[in-house]
Amino acid sequence: MSKNTRPAQKRIDQFLSGPGGRADDWRDLMEGAKVWARGGDRANYDATLADLSVTEEFHGYPGLQLMAALREAAAAGDAGTSLSLVTRIMQALTTRSFRQHAGDLKDDGNGDAPDLLPQTFGQQAAHRPYFETLIVTGLSPSEWPALTTEWRKLRRPVDAFVYEPVIVGSLEDAFCAVMLNPNIAAVIINEGFALRSHHNSTALRPMMTASGINDESDASALRLAHVINRVRPELDLYLMSNRDVETMAGNPDANVFRRIFYSIEELLELHLSILEGIQDRFDTPFFDNLKKYAQRPIGTFHALPIARGKSIFKSDWIRDMGEFYGLNLFLAESSATTGGLDSLLEPTGNIKKAQDKAARALGADRVFFVTNGTSTSNKMAVQALLGPGDIAIVDRNCHKSHHYGMVLSGAQPLYVEAFPMTEYSMYGAVPLKTIKQALLNAKADGRLDRVKMLDLTNCTFDGHIYNTRRVMEECLAIKPDLIFLWDEAWFGFARFSPFLRRRTAMGAAAAIEAWMHDPKSVAVYEKQQAELGKNPSDETLLKTRLIPDPRKIRLRVYQTNSTHKSMSALRQGSMLSVKDVEFHTVEQQFKEAVFTHASTSPNQQLIASLDVSRRQMELEGYGLVANAIEIAIAIRRAVNNNALISKYFRILGADAMVPAQYRQSGFTDYLAPSANWASALKSLDDDEFCLDPTRMTLVCGTAGFDGTQFKGILANEYDIQINKTSRNSVLIQSNINNTRSDVAHLVRVLAEIAGEVDRGLTRGGANTRKTFEARVKSLMTDVPDLPNFSHFHASFRGDAGTKTNEGDIRSGFYSAYDAAGCEFIRLADPEIDRRLKAGPDLVSASFVIPYPPGFPIMVPGQVITQETIDFMRKLDVKEIHGYDATEGLKLVRPEALARMSGRKPAAPARLKAS
Ligand SMILES: Cc1ncc(COP(=O)(O)O)c(C=O)c1O
Repeated sequence: MSKNTRPAQKRIDQFLSGPGGRADDWRDLMEGAKVWARGGDRANYDATLADLSVTEEFHGYPGLQLMAALREAAAAGDAGTSLSLVTRIMQALTTRSFRQHAGDLKDDGNGDAPDLLPQTFGQQAAHRPYFETLIVTGLSPSEWPALTTEWRKLRRPVDAFVYEPVIVGSLEDAFCAVMLNPNIAAVIINEGFALRSHHNSTALRPMMTASGINDESDASALRLAHVINRVRPELDLYLMSNRDVETMAGNPDANVFRRIFYSIEELLELHLSILEGIQDRFDTPFFDNLKKYAQRPIGTFHALPIARGKSIFKSDWIRDMGEFYGLNLFLAESSATTGGLDSLLEPTGNIKKAQDKAARALGADRVFFVTNGTSTSNKMAVQALLGPGDIAIVDRNCHKSHHYGMVLSGAQPLYVEAFPMTEYSMYGAVPLKTIKQALLNAKADGRLDRVKMLDLTNCTFDGHIYNTRRVMEECLAIKPDLIFLWDEAWFGFARFSPFLRRRTAMGAAAAIEAWMHDPKSVAVYEKQQAELGKNPSDETLLKTRLIPDPRKIRLRVYQTNSTHKSMSALRQGSMLSVKDVEFHTVEQQFKEAVFTHASTSPNQQLIASLDVSRRQMELEGYGLVANAIEIAIAIRRAVNNNALISKYFRILGADAMVPAQYRQSGFTDYLAPSANWASALKSLDDDEFCLDPTRMTLVCGTAGFDGTQFKGILANEYDIQINKTSRNSVLIQSNINNTRSDVAHLVRVLAEIAGEVDRGLTRGGANTRKTFEARVKSLMTDVPDLPNFSHFHASFRGDAGTKTNEGDIRSGFYSAYDAAGCEFIRLADPEIDRRLKAGPDLVSASFVIPYPPGFPIMVPGQVITQETIDFMRKLDVKEIHGYDATEGLKLVRPEALARMSGRKPAAPARLKAS
């Protein structure tokens, strides 16, 4: 916002842009102070200070005292003192030194501005993690400074952590504080606070109304606790009540509090409880023990020579490996499962404890740690939950681990297609109507009982997020015990965003579970049943937002996360989360799946990093994820609003990535002038698909680069690594690791490249321009149609339905093992065209997966169509898994197919416990 248009006081809904806006505001204040101190206009300084006075109320540092000092200096017209105060506060905020010396401020007592540098600034002190505790109180603001002092007096040198209190007097302010201040880790709610903030707020009110909070009578401590728990479930909540605490403690809704205290009791107890709560999140059972283990003198007589590092550090030849990685890596390696190291295959000790904590953090009933990536987590889930002959509705574009999982388990994939984004050579996500149609078709074919699972990718590589709650509810209305496997390889971080959490598998499962237990739900279901009548047509069912019968639902939800893709785990660290009321019926199968896939020599460091990732996300995930989202918005804005860059490049907004029919709320994009957090929230609640803001498709075809070429330029010439490419785009991703400097670097590089293209075109004359335009047209317009899945050959559909397209992919896969039964035909061979026209069918013997786009254009047993051949012939990528251009397409010979047609089909498995 231009400084001249700053309102006198910031509106609450404007600053809900997130915690990151704070640093910008302080930078602005510094700039304003410099201008004023040089004798310039003080208007910007005053306006920014007014803004900051609002937001800083919700932070422990600089706190009430320093902010009052800033305002006093401004009121006295003292530009010099103002600048020096701002400089010192900025320094403390930037170096985070205030965290080491919380509240440790010297007041010289003579009425001058206190010495605002922490007394011990610059000295080395033992590192104690810092956090802030929110205190919601009915006391008047004039009493808050004394309250702060009282809390600080509770600190003791033996405390493992140090915290500052942040005091607010209303429910709305408490909400703002937990949203804005990522350092808050605990909340004390005293009864008797007000409802409304004294700040102006237009967007906050609808939010409060949506939470059922309308007047002062709703401003109860319990209500507030539930509001906070919804946005930041990781926070420890404490109730200080001076009423009937015993009754409150017996109320099941009060479980949201970690502890309930009677107000007049010892504050020290509360202080110790707060520290204990943080310690519980801080403890990393496996990692903590591994560190201890590494310090013990252990003689190893097992098969892992590098354990303890002696074979490395004594060697003349490989010592550099030891020097590079450091001693601890080797001291902390072992193939033992004793000494508290536990066994990943059958965890009963520290790994089990670490997994339980991860389950708490992710909102699951249980979590499995997996040390070979989500590729393995997916195969484990598919193998454990499906058996031969079971049918799974699967997104054809899902990661190959799902397809291979079907091969391993013998389950039959019933492929459904995502909506195509042909222009960018990528797919979106699978429309709910398509999924419902597949279920209804299976029902019509009398085989709904065999449809065991819906298996989808959320979010997709390119950032399409499902409405997980709606998908599950509507599917459960058709099949109440359907299992859901959500591949959230890219989306693990979303759990720690109050905006995105609702769109995760576990977030939606929690909402469905709560809805099932709401006594009003049965009536809602019955009302819809009455409206639908006895035998509603498929057409009616497809267009109705179906409500499941809450009494019949068996909620069975699985979620896989590549912890290494969005959190601080080492590569391959993955978690499989379970929320399944029937888990006891498949527990043994899960054990078998772990035994099948987990290495018997899992890497200790990987397991430890999963444990530590959980700790980090429970203690600072909220702020880190908010930062990743803000960085993404900053990149989007910088690229799309820069005149030179946007001449050749553009980042696709939600409107380009999600067709309007799936954006029912009317949301267009995060950068749209009308967008604010309320409209984004509505979109997240209502729309069929949303776009994960952190996944940015940058179109580079308009600058004359194909995706692979542009990825190479960024990597080789500018040291910028990106993720995925398409024919005319690259995918940029922000994560918890990124900083504003990364944004600046990327934007500068794009400006440089755009400048080069621009200069080349200006200098090159008409011919250069013509060549450029032809190249852009070829990349942006002459794009190949994306081939849909055709069908399995009849030989692999021995027991298939008439309306559904599932097939026996496992037999298709093993047909390739019969060398005599297979043939190769080159892509350019006219024989391909002849067979496409006159037969016999071309049937793929293998998976063929080009990178990009990365989805299987052929699966084993699939009949190859003209569309697929056209697509392959137009593909100009080098990496095609499962296809060797010199040999050609691997096909199952017609004779072998004929032989197979006589074969008995696999019988459906009976997996359910009888
Ligand atoms: C959707 C999806 N699922 C699973 C995986 C595999 O995850 P990992 O690399 O952790 O094995 C990927 C990898 O890119 C993926 O994109």
